[in-house]
Amino acid sequence: MNPDVTILYDSIRWEEKALLEAGKKKDINIQMVDCKKLALDLEKKPKDYGVVIQRCVSYYRNLHSTAALEGMGVKVINCLNTGVFAGNKLFTHMLLKKSGVPTPDATVAFSKDAAIEALETDGYPKVIKPTVGSWGRLISKINDKESAEGIIESRETMYPIYQIHYLEEFVKRPPRDIRAIMVGDKIVAAIYRKSEHWKTNMALGGIAEPCEVTQEMEEMCIKAKKAVQGDIVGVDLMESEEKGLVVHEVNNTTEYKNTVRVCDVDIPSLMLDYAMKVER
Ligand SMILES: Nc1ncnc2c1ncn2[C@@H]1O[C@H](COP(=O)(O)OP(=O)(O)OP(=O)(O)O)[C@@H](O)[C@H]1O
Ligand SMILES: [Mg+2]
Repeated sequence: MNPDVTILYDSIRWEEKALLEAGKKKDINIQMVDCKKLALDLEKKPKDYGVVIQRCVSYYRNLHSTAALEGMGVKVINCLNTGVFAGNKLFTHMLLKKSGVPTPDATVAFSKDAAIEALETDGYPKVIKPTVGSWGRLISKINDKESAEGIIESRETMYPIYQIHYLEEFVKRPPRDIRAIMVGDKIVAAIYRKSEHWKTNMALGGIAEPCEVTQEMEEMCIKAKKAVQGDIVGVDLMESEEKGLVVHEVNNTTEYKNTVRVCDVDIPSLMLDYAMKVER
């Protein structure tokens, strides 16, 4: 039987298992494909994948397998543009601004000296983020010139992407952020991620609690999702004391285990319903 939906993965997390289970319940024919075992002959007509839900954890595998499949005419959720745009915090920043979505003020500097000069002019604290990355990795709060010099100098020895110094204002906010899961033009569920650490990521020990979705939040998330051309995304927001809600990230291959757990919304089923209806 031809698959209705292909889950393309490189490691099976709770999210991928839940999609498979939801498919069985809904009688949707799901094919699980391990991207690590995949070799695509780009000159041949592709096999029948149905709609592909891209779930690879590896940024490069995710982006390149999407590029190949989409180029061969396969519908992939999310599309290549979303992988490129949402996968990079600078690209996202520019698109959010263009779409009128409030986002933390940021500066990008292309050398250590330029970054230090910008910090000295604009002041501390600031947050430095790799433009590509997740789970809070290599994100640092820079409190003064001494720490700036140490952090930026070490980045200058890393892979070139870490030498793009993306600096954000440190947003004053309650000790939490918001993760809103969007399926199409709707927030299907949202959580607060609370933490004593300034980085509230679940991967770093944050605690999830349900978050009531307001109309303002939903309108902002729809714009953010459209800005990166996404279908199914996780929008991260903060409640800035000065600016109100700001979007600081759109996640292309979002995790939703904790959102399902605390909100009791069947996100995998909603994702499959969406994939079954989407234009191929
Ligand atoms: N400008 C900021 N001011 C204050 N706190 C911030 C700022 N940017 C990020 N944070 C905190 O750090 C966390 C990680 O930041 P961000 O979401 O940008 O990175 P990430 O590594 O891509 O995370 P994810 O795991 O959500 O993909 C946020 O959840 C938030 O709690
Ligand atoms: Mg985030």
